[in-house]
Amino acid sequence: MATAISRERTAAQAENPAKAERSDRPDESDWRNIFGGLRQGQIHPEGWYAVALSSEVEPGRITGRPFLNGRVAIYRKRSGEPVVVTAFCPHMGSDLASGAIVGDELRCNYHHFRFGPDGRCAGVPGNNRIPPGAALFSYPTTERFGLVWAYNGETPLFPPPEVRDFPHDGLVSRARRAHVYENVAPWLPIGNTFDFLHLRHVHALGFDFDFDRIRWGAHEAEYEIDFDSPDMGRIEQRIRVTGTNISTHVTVGSSTTVGVTTATPVGTSLELYMVACAPKDATRTPESIDAELREQERFVDNLLADDIRVMTGIAFRAGTFLQEDQPMARWLRWVHAFPVADPAARYR
Ligand code: FES
Ligand SMILES: [Fe+2]
Repeated sequence: MATAISRERTAAQAENPAKAERSDRPDESDWRNIFGGLRQGQIHPEGWYAVALSSEVEPGRITGRPFLNGRVAIYRKRSGEPVVVTAFCPHMGSDLASGAIVGDELRCNYHHFRFGPDGRCAGVPGNNRIPPGAALFSYPTTERFGLVWAYNGETPLFPPPEVRDFPHDGLVSRARRAHVYENVAPWLPIGNTFDFLHLRHVHALGFDFDFDRIRWGAHEAEYEIDFDSPDMGRIEQRIRVTGTNISTHVTVGSSTTVGVTTATPVGTSLELYMVACAPKDATRTPESIDAELREQERFVDNLLADDIRVMTGIAFRAGTFLQEDQPMARWLRWVHAFPVADPAARYR
């Protein structure tokens, strides 16, 4: 299975990067006005977004999925490497998910325009010239943790997510998707990890933590913390947040579990992908690995059930913050300053 970041750029894409600037959101110039919901057509932060479960993208079949403000067609090249392109044919708008895979190309079944994995039109019927602008947007794509990821942007500013301590190809992963929230921005459930008051009051976790120990990078943030958990006793968590929509946790207690949680906007809804991982180990039985994955899934499901209770219907605003909300305020500023893009805008 391919894991390299791939996408060839078409000349048209290179000429017109359709980069969205922060000035596109004049009403949100102050981080305190950050919009915690989802508007149809809003411009999202750059970053890696899960677009499908790997298991949904079967060789030889095209999968259509709603994604951000549009729709994508996902398929695999002969090498197995996934391709994620905008779904609507530039000729007359047929949904390419109903097309066919021919070699590494996608063929629209309406009038047989063909498109390469880079989105460039590779052929039209008859002796016609390929019309300029006949192209799809091909997202930078990778595959890991049992998920197909597409980068919202022309060229990735940062690499795809990795968990702490374990390379992704050293892990067995089991991924699931839930459609959980309406009108909730991805950074809100992912930013839970910086909402220390909620860790105490929603999840009943005990801790003593110096906020200065959070390391804020340009596109990632990390910290380690010891929790007293009502479920699991004393645990250490090694947390990494990548972009505005991905959190990974290595939880060290009586055993070590690894999880990836990521949120993808689909129109005005939020899809949550949850991945349980276990280190690959040839000496272990499938049953013991399965038990570890189930433990991680149970841990995440319990946290999520708590979060859903408080986050469903939320009309988020950065209101009257307390001292313990400092990391949350920092997270909001970080998210607010994050680069945004809508590279597929003119391909919808
Ligand atoms: S709509 Fe796709 S080839 Fe005509
Ligand atoms: Fe939470």
